[in-house]
Amino acid sequence: RPCSTRATLEGINKPVIDRIIRVDHAGEYGANRIYAGQMAVLGRSSAGPIIQQMWNQEKDHLKKFNELMVAYRVRPTVLLPFWNVAGFVLGAGSALLGKKGAMACTVAVEESISDHYNSQIRTLMEEDPEKYKELLQIIKQFRDDEREHHDIGLEHDAEAAPAYSVLKTAIQLGCKAAIFLSERI
Ligand SMILES: [Fe+2]
Ligand SMILES: [Fe+2]
Repeated sequence: RPCSTRATLEGINKPVIDRIIRVDHAGEYGANRIYAGQMAVLGRSSAGPIIQQMWNQEKDHLKKFNELMVAYRVRPTVLLPFWNVAGFVLGAGSALLGKKGAMACTVAVEESISDHYNSQIRTLMEEDPEKYKELLQIIKQFRDDEREHHDIGLEHDAEAAPAYSVLKTAIQLGCKAAIFLSERI
């Protein structure tokens, strides 16, 4: 379809869509780096396979947002090099607390991301559910995947991690800041 890009961009609220795709791409990029950091520490432990399974889904999420950036002509956030390092450090750091620490990190991050996706779904529904059908479908699917990662974390004793609630609050503050910044720059 030679005109697919033009058709995609036709009549969309470009600033809104730019912001959504840029921040989601940043988030999925960061998620990949978090799981990479966790695997570097816990890859050979009993938690390895379950972390790898979640990471594989994040790879699909990131691939999809890479495609969407091209289709909607959105540039990535300038903060990617920072999320590259920060994501890995968060993943590896939480994993150094042990399997439960890694799972606590997963619960905190995935809860933030699924809330964030829910708020985007509301925004797009208010904008035009028909026009943004494809995007809505993708975000709903990913929201469900992130919810599942969150539940996997809880099933694997996230709440038994050292200083669980402090850790969760701190990580979620970081997520909020990352979302705020990645939407804007
Ligand atoms: Fe994801
Ligand atoms: Fe996830």
